[in-house]
Amino acid sequence: MKILVTGGLGFIGSHTVVELQNEGFEVVIIDNLSNSSEDVLKGIVAITGIQPVFEKIDLREKTAVQEFFKRHADVSGIIHFAASKAVGESVENPLLYYENNLGALVYILQELQKKTEASFIFSSSCTVYGQAETMPITEDAPIQAAMSPYGNTKQIGEEIIVDVAKVSHINAILLRYFNPVGSHPSVEIGELPLGVPQNLIPFITQTGAGLRKELSVYGSDYPTPDGTCIRDYIHVVDLAKAHVIALKRLLDKKNLEKVETFNLGTGTGSSVLEVIHSFEKVSGKKLPYKLVDRREGDVVEAYADTKKANEVLGWKSELTLDQAMESAWKWEKKIRNL
Ligand code: WQD
Repeated sequence: MKILVTGGLGFIGSHTVVELQNEGFEVVIIDNLSNSSEDVLKGIVAITGIQPVFEKIDLREKTAVQEFFKRHADVSGIIHFAASKAVGESVENPLLYYENNLGALVYILQELQKKTEASFIFSSSCTVYGQAETMPITEDAPIQAAMSPYGNTKQIGEEIIVDVAKVSHINAILLRYFNPVGSHPSVEIGELPLGVPQNLIPFITQTGAGLRKELSVYGSDYPTPDGTCIRDYIHVVDLAKAHVIALKRLLDKKNLEKVETFNLGTGTGSSVLEVIHSFEKVSGKKLPYKLVDRREGDVVEAYADTKKANEVLGWKSELTLDQAMESAWKWEKKIRNL
């Protein structure tokens, strides 16, 4: 079966391509290389020995999307990762986010709407919950007003999919990720943040590698045990495997509703200081950091209730924070030739 993975040369996309190939799927990747590199293809082939088809397409170009689906009419399922995902950048440049994250989604759905059946996996985010009232966060926790245009594109994206599924043969699963971290154990693919990393783990590993002077811990006066924010850090390989399970659920017509939603996390919250200690444990290095003011827009804590994913989707995360940190550190050392 041929599966389209948009954003398939990105961080989560590339790890998902590997797991799809491991399960025998034929993979076609679309990526515009705005936040990735064609070298990632080599990493995928180094792991699986299978060269996915890659087409450099910008999904904001409607005709390019239409042409693609003419050439690949036999695509059975789509996993849609392609999107801009930097919260801060989205505040500065909202129209880039609305055009890229929603325009592309509309063009793809317009093609899928023509098909007699289509299985669609959407890359969503726990950011749709904002600061949830109760922990752990379940899928029916209220969707709160988005704290950024990025978060808003995820909320609107979900709504668009629900509306289109009602009037088409599209069946969809919305996967709300918590915090994806780590790298493939083969050290052939991993996270490649461009510029100064916004996310915690790449900033930590770059500090450990000496690229950054020290980590700034954004806020140490939160109402948490050690005063720093709590998140649910999920290993990217566990996350990738969940995508394959979700896709198979749709292909095998096991879904109970036209659109299903699952939170993907470990179910365990870790504070920023605990993540730092994890790095120090796995690397044997002391991490230089300083406690600074809170970052605008951060929620105090967010970790997943994994019951629905475990019992309905039949998926459970297996890898620990230390394993994620160890793989992230190995990857950092490799790309910096350390
Ligand atoms: C985690 C914690 C920071 C950097 C974002 C998006 C979310 C998803 C994942 C795409 C927070 C603290 C961070 C640093 C720090 N992205 N931190 N110093 O904000 O939970 O989620 O990335 O899907 O949608 O919102 O992740 O890694 O930026 O921050 O103290 O240099 O680490 O304050 O508490 P976040 P993050």
